[in-house]
Amino acid sequence: MKKVGIIGVGEYLPEKILTNADLEKMVDTSDEWITTRTGIKERHLAAPGEASSDLAFKASVQALNNAKIKPEELELIIVATITGDMSFPSVSAILQNKLQAKKAVCFDISAACAGFVYGLSVAQQFISCGTYKNALVIGSEVLSSITDWQDRNTCVLFGDGAGAAVLSEVKSGGIISTYLGCDGSKAGILNLPAGGSRNPATHETVEKRMHFLKMQGNELFKIAVNTMTQAAETVLKQAGLTFSDVDLIIPHQANRRIIMAVAKKLGIPEERVYLNIERCGNMSSASTVTALCEAVQEGKVKKGDIILLDAFGAGLVWGACVIEW
Ligand SMILES: CC(C)(COP(=O)(O)OP(=O)(O)OC[C@H]1O[C@@H](n2cnc3c(N)ncnc32)[C@H](O)[C@@H]1OP(=O)(O)O)[C@@H](O)C(=O)NCCC(=O)NCCS
Repeated sequence: MKKVGIIGVGEYLPEKILTNADLEKMVDTSDEWITTRTGIKERHLAAPGEASSDLAFKASVQALNNAKIKPEELELIIVATITGDMSFPSVSAILQNKLQAKKAVCFDISAACAGFVYGLSVAQQFISCGTYKNALVIGSEVLSSITDWQDRNTCVLFGDGAGAAVLSEVKSGGIISTYLGCDGSKAGILNLPAGGSRNPATHETVEKRMHFLKMQGNELFKIAVNTMTQAAETVLKQAGLTFSDVDLIIPHQANRRIIMAVAKKLGIPEERVYLNIERCGNMSSASTVTALCEAVQEGKVKKGDIILLDAFGAGLVWGACVIEW
């Protein structure tokens, strides 16, 4: 089996920034509540008409330049998203055309906030067994398009953005271990009820605001802490490593309190946890990959470092990955 690593990363955050002060004018909330309960100060919002493939394209160009790979060298593109441009075709197919990556096989993954880690794991299998040489894995979301801007329970939490990673065979280091999981019995805790085959769009579904995401935040909080802790423990055990070996944990950015509770349970000090939640909010599949990209760009990830990605989201699904950089 070949060793597979991330050889380039990129991100794109839309220009418009929505602050907590802006939200105070939209719903009954306060900067104080949002900051203390979530750790979020601001989030980026896509421009009207800007879709997931547009964000994915910009992040991908940066990642390909960073990896020094041309689009025509790509054989696989996987986009993790829950906010595709439309129900079909896939964002990855639209992106293939934008990039002119004509040789690439393309599909999307619906694994919500764990989507990027799921995508990494799938791409790793294809490369390690020799089917494909270079793959592009992206997390891209325009969550503002499914956010109910009248619901203070959810609208303060989410943001838009995209991150991309180029995967290829590497001589040393790379992905050491991945671990994925799912518990479909809790699918009702976080979902988007209408617009699919269960509740196709009607005047009634629109009037009942069923095209916006619904979440039982409190319930999720406890499950997220326990599941992310267990996923991190499992993937590290699989890798034959311990928490003292981890240089940086890059978790899904749903809530600062969730992340710090997980770090505390794992015994990982705060300075070894990477956060972009304050500036970006929760960008679902884009959160872990943009955080990874920023950590690399800021020089917080160096060659030989052990990094741990740890994500959790709607499904419920989870995924963790240990990488030697
Ligand atoms: C959503 C979340 C931030 C809410 O924080 P919480 O501490 O659990 O708060 P609660 O839901 O218990 O609500 C506490 C109170 O704040 C209120 N509240 C909710 N949103 C508010 C807001 N934006 N501004 C002010 N008050 C708000 C609630 O109405 C509730 O009021 P009540 O006690 O009068 O009913 C938190 O539960 C969370 O992050 N959950 C997990 C999110 C997650 O993991 N998402 C998906 C995975 S990707």
